[in-house]
Amino acid sequence: MSNSIALFVAVILMLPVKAFAEQISKGEVLAVTCFICHGSKGKYTNGTLPPLAGYPEDIMAKRLKAYKTGELYATMMQRQISGYSDEEIDALAKYFSSLEPS
Ligand code: HEC
Repeated sequence: MSNSIALFVAVILMLPVKAFAEQISKGEVLAVTCFICHGSKGKYTNGTLPPLAGYPEDIMAKRLKAYKTGELYATMMQRQISGYSDEEIDALAKYFSSLEPS
């Protein structure tokens, strides 16, 4: 009896955690690093860096991969993106393109 109550409580406690984890995509988790310079949720408004919210997915993915290989040179982004795999870059591009442009 006490075992089944413990099991019931354990299942109930796990439900919201699972639902929460599914809401956060891989790209969203990775993007937190980008928020430091490009603004929270890619909505940067002071005009010095391009806002990332609503950035077309294919263009961002191509651009970040070009920074990574050095095909496109950029002072900051070369260093930022060199540690990401192509799959992570695709996830970042998917996430930012899904956001409302600022
Ligand atoms: C340390 C600050 C910094 C961080 C962190 C950063 N960026 Fe950047 N980003 C820049 C700067 C500065 C530029 C302009 C190009 C350059 O000088 O490197 C830029 C340019 C870009 C561009 C090109 C925009 C355009 O149209 O010209 C994209 C796309 C981009 N960043 C995506 C990202 C993503 C995705 C991340 C997170 C993985 C990220 N950035 C993290 C500073 C940063």
